[in-house]
Amino acid sequence: MQIRKAVFPAAGLGTRFLPATKAQPKEMLPLVDKPLIQYVMEEAVGAGISNITIVTGRGKNAIEDHFDVSYELEQLLERRGKDDLLKEIRRISNMVNVSYVRQKEALGLGHAILVAKHSIGNEPFAVMLGDDIIDSEIPCMKQMMDLFEKLQASIIATCEVPASEISQYGVIRGYPLEGFGNRVYRVQDVVEKPPAAEAPSNLAIIGRYILTPEIFPILEKTRSGSGGEIQLTDGIRLLLEQQPVYAYMFEGTRYDAGDKLGFLKATVEFTLKRQDLGEPFRQYLKSLSL
Ligand code: UTP
Repeated sequence: MQIRKAVFPAAGLGTRFLPATKAQPKEMLPLVDKPLIQYVMEEAVGAGISNITIVTGRGKNAIEDHFDVSYELEQLLERRGKDDLLKEIRRISNMVNVSYVRQKEALGLGHAILVAKHSIGNEPFAVMLGDDIIDSEIPCMKQMMDLFEKLQASIIATCEVPASEISQYGVIRGYPLEGFGNRVYRVQDVVEKPPAAEAPSNLAIIGRYILTPEIFPILEKTRSGSGGEIQLTDGIRLLLEQQPVYAYMFEGTRYDAGDKLGFLKATVEFTLKRQDLGEPFRQYLKSLSL
């Protein structure tokens, strides 16, 4: 089985980024000059995903507009001879097949995935969250899909986080799978936001998953967990009872762009890497008396 489809849950309220997210989706916050969701879209396309279902909610129209054709803008750019920008704008709307489903109420990540069930059908699929921006040579999802070819099972992306931050994440209990250089773990349990002293490891779950379709009936049955939401971690815990689930420590750097500090770090580092902005920005940073 191959992964062809991805779900982008984007119906959350983005409370950590208020007030910026009061009337604008978190996924549209610009990292340098591209909205967060476009980075994730490019990762998906780079991994060979051909169909993306974005789960949206109230106030998320800007996402649909961003990936749609913008005739007025194209005409304006054409008239002004801005060919490079025109090419970029057209590239965005031609990137991949995108469809939208609406989550009427923000009932949790698990619930958001469940509303995409009919777009996915009975095949393994990717889940990619716009909060997590991953800078890597090989797109993170491509790394995961290569592993999926070998394991044919659900895979959760993970990275090590310091003890002081572990209570903000879902955390993995597992053991390394032989022959994968300590990058792949057989998952035994997942614990949502444990206090540091009770965390089963320093391996945090981040926003990239490959899931088998057996997750859907489980999510249908999963009752609201902490905070009255349907948590994906609860669903994965039940999936574990039926089939193996693996965690993969991807190669690359991950930024928590849904958090203000994480977003600022990503902005600085992505700008420093830009050919057009890197050098003047570096000079500017050096001039600050920090
Ligand atoms: P988060 O836990 O980051 O929640 O959701 P959030 O609402 O987006 O942001 P904060 O924490 O309040 O600042 C993880 C992902 O799941 C999606 C979000 O859009 C985000 O991509 N999500 C969450 C949904 O699509 N629906 C939900 O009901 C909850």
